[in-house]
Amino acid sequence: MRISKAFLLASFVVVPMVTMAQAPSASKAKHAAAPILAATPPMGWNSWNFFARNVNDQDIRNAADQMVSTGMKDAGYIYINIDDTWEGDRDASGVLHTNSKFPDMKALADYVHSKGLKLGIYSGPGTKTCAGFAASMDHEAQDAQLYASWGIDYLKYDLCSFRRDVMAAKAPNDKAEQMRLMVAAYEKMGKALKDAGRPIVFSLCQYGWDAPWEWAPALGGNLWRTTGDVQANWGSIYDIINQQAGLAKYAGPGHWNDPDMLEVGNGRLTLPENRSHFSLWAMLAAPLLAGNDLPNMKPEIKAILTNADVIAIDQDKLGQQATRVYSEGEVDVWSRHLSGGAMAIAVLNAGYDRVATHPIHLSLAKLGLHGPQKGKDLWSGKDVTLTDNMPIELESHDTLLVRIATPK
Ligand code: GLA
Repeated sequence: MRISKAFLLASFVVVPMVTMAQAPSASKAKHAAAPILAATPPMGWNSWNFFARNVNDQDIRNAADQMVSTGMKDAGYIYINIDDTWEGDRDASGVLHTNSKFPDMKALADYVHSKGLKLGIYSGPGTKTCAGFAASMDHEAQDAQLYASWGIDYLKYDLCSFRRDVMAAKAPNDKAEQMRLMVAAYEKMGKALKDAGRPIVFSLCQYGWDAPWEWAPALGGNLWRTTGDVQANWGSIYDIINQQAGLAKYAGPGHWNDPDMLEVGNGRLTLPENRSHFSLWAMLAAPLLAGNDLPNMKPEIKAILTNADVIAIDQDKLGQQATRVYSEGEVDVWSRHLSGGAMAIAVLNAGYDRVATHPIHLSLAKLGLHGPQKGKDLWSGKDVTLTDNMPIELESHDTLLVRIATPK
């Protein structure tokens, strides 16, 4: 479902819609002194992809310890995000309490902060979260203040029951009204977070419905999911990559498209698939939220997740998300501009069996480049010169990722 013109006009009344062209100057004037929240895509680790519902206080403390001991923190992973299932009941005053798995959230936040890390939490605009725990409906300001009092730094806000209990219940046959209700619910929490007086990254999770990239930045969203849930298999990851084509113009410092968390090191992804997943998330200026089993991280997975050159692409301060320049047969070529006039190119072999015996040929002209280009292959770490039509040998589902310092 696409956003309608009528709705956009209506939303100007409710939420002053900030267009991308206006955004930088408006926010500059308003926050001249304050640093931009999520100036580069957030990096960290989230409990869901590995622990799902079985996460507790000790697991989060361990994750914080392991972020430091594995070198992930030094590589830039800062947020430790608790996903669903930490929530308990509300008391007579409506104050939400944690459940027995998280006895003291403030103490946990203090612990995570003592490691130089930040703590994230999870809720939603409905009465229930996806896992059936208490969510924030009608308690937005109260919850935002509670998070601030605990020292929370990041909120993932997941639509879930709001769709059934509010959108479908109140406006069963009116998609425009359903959307208005949804946007208003996210706007309410965006305002509550702002009023709570602590910088808390606001992550919208409503699976990319109704083009959130068009309205989420105006209501304070720092990132918004662009798709359904990622799974630890190549089909899911490649499907998500393809859904990102065309979204580049909506990303930038403080506001990012979120193709969902990383599955690097999970499931049965092959090494080339893990490399491609990480390469493309970096090209897409996506949040890098690992979700793997940290204590049992294999060296080759750690090498992928902590590759400083690849992380630098993701975190480039220009914040220009890659575009898919062309696809030919089983090959996709993406590129993005980097600060200092540099450029990154990703060549992805999407085929199941196309290997060295049947190389890929690169078209520099399609990338707007002329003549040989000197660069660095960010996975081998070696210098490479790209020439027009050069044969490239790539394993199935692998990616050649090259940074060109001075493209011509
Ligand atoms: C949804 C979200 C997931 C995760 C679960 C938790 O499915 O999309 O990322 O947060 O809910 O219940």
